[in-house]
Amino acid sequence: MKNSNIVVIGFMGSGKTTLGKRLASKIKYKFVDMDKYIEKKEKMSVAEIFEAKGEDYFRRLETEVSEEMSKKEKYVIATGGGVVNNPENMKFLCENSTILYLKSTPEHIYRNIGKDKKRPLLQVNNKMEVIRTLMKERTPVYEKYAQVTINVSTGAVKYIISRIIRGLEGKI
Ligand code: S3P
Repeated sequence: MKNSNIVVIGFMGSGKTTLGKRLASKIKYKFVDMDKYIEKKEKMSVAEIFEAKGEDYFRRLETEVSEEMSKKEKYVIATGGGVVNNPENMKFLCENSTILYLKSTPEHIYRNIGKDKKRPLLQVNNKMEVIRTLMKERTPVYEKYAQVTINVSTGAVKYIISRIIRGLEGKI
């Protein structure tokens, strides 16, 4: 049987939300962004949650929401970049889903979110260094879960979407 959801994983700023939304509308799936979902639930932004309650609290919410997501059907689910670090999250998210990994480069990430103020983990002076280090740590984890990997560091959005749809062929 074909899997019901598409779970989009990848580094912060790789385009999980933007591309996930476009993909959903193209293949007529619904769309949900886990970070936005958490923000609605908590009535606070992710940055505010990190600031007021700490990262561990945010990570617990992420696990709760991963479980809720596993009950959805025909959804494209955009995750936060750190979701793969907890195997429990991935156990929930892998149920009934195809895992789509958007692969990027540190330079591309920096171009996308170098000036962003919303990502608490990147509010540092040595941004490029932090991006490189985190990406090095996380790449093997993204790769471990990926069922379809699409390079998103080059090309216009519409071509990336076509590549994604081709990559998902037979799975949606
Ligand atoms: C995080 C990524 C963020 C958000 C939080 C932590 C991470 O989501 O969940 O700031 O650990 O990589 P995006 O990947 O959408 O930026």
